[in-house]
Parts: sequence; structure tokens; C-alpha cells
Amino acid sequence: MDIKEYYRLAKIEDSHWWYRSVHRLVIGEVIGQSTKAGPYFARPGLIRILDAGCGTGGLTEQLSGLGSTVGIDISGLALGLKPHLKARYVNGSINDLPFADKSFNLITCISVFYHRQVSDKKAAAEIFRVLKNGGKAIFIIPAFQWAFGSHDRAVHAARRYSMSSATALLKNAGFTIIKARYIFGMIFPEFVIKRFLDKIGVSNKMISDLAELPSWLNWIFELVCRFENWLAKWVKLPFGSSIYIVIEKP
Ligand SMILES: C[S@@+](CC[C@H](N)C(=O)[O-])C[C@H]1O[C@@H](n2cnc3c(N)ncnc32)[C@H](O)[C@@H]1O
Repeated sequence: MDIKEYYRLAKIEDSHWWYRSVHRLVIGEVIGQSTKAGPYFARPGLIRILDAGCGTGGLTEQLSGLGSTVGIDISGLALGLKPHLKARYVNGSINDLPFADKSFNLITCISVFYHRQVSDKKAAAEIFRVLKNGGKAIFIIPAFQWAFGSHDRAVHAARRYSMSSATALLKNAGFTIIKARYIFGMIFPEFVIKRFLDKIGVSNKMISDLAELPSWLNWIFELVCRFENWLAKWVKLPFGSSIYIVIEKP
């Protein structure tokens, strides 16, 4: 990613509605709050967790409350930007994970597969290799190639995915798909307008994907996302700016 994007990530990941919604969704999934299936692990404290492409560690630190957690990222800068209190961090690539086979019960991989330094087939095979049988992985993958824009370029993205290409990639690696749905669907119109303005060359920092909003607006966006995630127990939206996938290694 551009160096300034790492600084931005470190600054906003604990307060920005997008990150707060993602962290709540992922943690809620694992502890059984945002799913009808209940908690994933009977003895959560004893599980081993990998946050693959952990960035500056916002989610990694939260996951470490659920078990012994390692974050890996290709950027040493990202790993050094914040004081990390609980998890262990490794500088390396998800294309070639430096861990033994079947090391982890849970792997998270949030907005990483679309990066140009990621070979998605290799990374999927590596995640399969290091996950224990019966282990789960949670992915968030940017959706719709037509939405590729200046934010994607700034974070060195190579591609966005369709629902079918994302699920096929993970199925072909050997995983069973447990859940696959679009997220950020209720605010999708705002996303589409921003992408349209971006494409016609209107550049304004408020149209960035990670623009810092006034706190009241940030709060409203977060609330809408919480409502959408609650609703998702019953309703699948047909669109959204990202794809949320939960998989299991048989
Ligand atoms: C958009 S950021 C997301 C960070 C974090 N997952 C989050 O949600 O805050 C993508 C991260 O993937 C990392 N990355 C890109 N290619 C990678 C690779 N091959 N192996 C490991 N990390 C990679 C980048 O350095 C960056 O920190």
C-alpha cells in the first residue's frame, strides 16, 4: 500500500465506522453473537488464531482476547506503527506462510486477497494448509470489478471479485463454504455515488473510502451497518461493497 495509507490505517482503525463494523462482525461471528449457529469454539481461550494480512493490528489485538493470536503482514512498517500489547506479529507473506501444517483453529483475512502482492490461489492453498481440520476462516473481499477506483490504486489492489469468483477460489482450494453474502449493502448507494464521482474525476478527500467523517455521521454509518448485520441472520442483501465469506476446512 502507499506508505501514507498505513499511517492512515493506524490512525483510524479503532474509530472509523468501516473498521469498527468489520471488527464487530468478525468477533461477533466467532463468539456467536452475530450468527444463529452459536459460538464457533467450545473452549475459546484455547484456540490458535491467525490474522493474515493484519495491517497495523487493530483486529489482531481484539482477536487476541479470544485465543493465542498471531498477525502476519508483508509490511514491516505496518507492524511497527502501533504498540502491540497482546498478539504476536510476524513479518511475512500469505503466499508462503511460515507456519506448520494445521497450526490454527481460526484464520481471518480482511481485505487482503485483492492486493497485487497476493497470489490469491497460492494464498488460499496456504490458508488451507495451516488451518486445522474443522477450523474456520473468515474473509472480507472487495466486491465488483466495475467499482475499482482510486482508493484501490492507493492500497495497491490488483482486482475486485464477484461473488462467484470469490467462492469458487475458496472451494477450489478445498474449503466448504458456510456463509457467503454481501456486506455494506445498506450504504451501497453512497458507495456507488462515490465511485461514480471518482470515475468522472471529481477528487475530494470526502469521497475516499476511508474519509474521516464528522463523529455524528460516523456513528450513523456504524449504526446502519450494525442494523444490516443483525438483519443478516434472516435477510441476504443482493449487493454490497464487500463480500463476507466464512469457510471450514473439512
Ligand atoms: C487493506 S489492508 C487491511 C489490513 C487489515 N487486514 C485490516 O483489516 O485492517 C491490507 C493489508 O494486506 C497486506 N498485504 C498485502 N499483500 C500481502 C501479502 N502477500 N502477505 C501479507 N500481507 C499482505 C498489506 O501490507 C496491508 O497491511
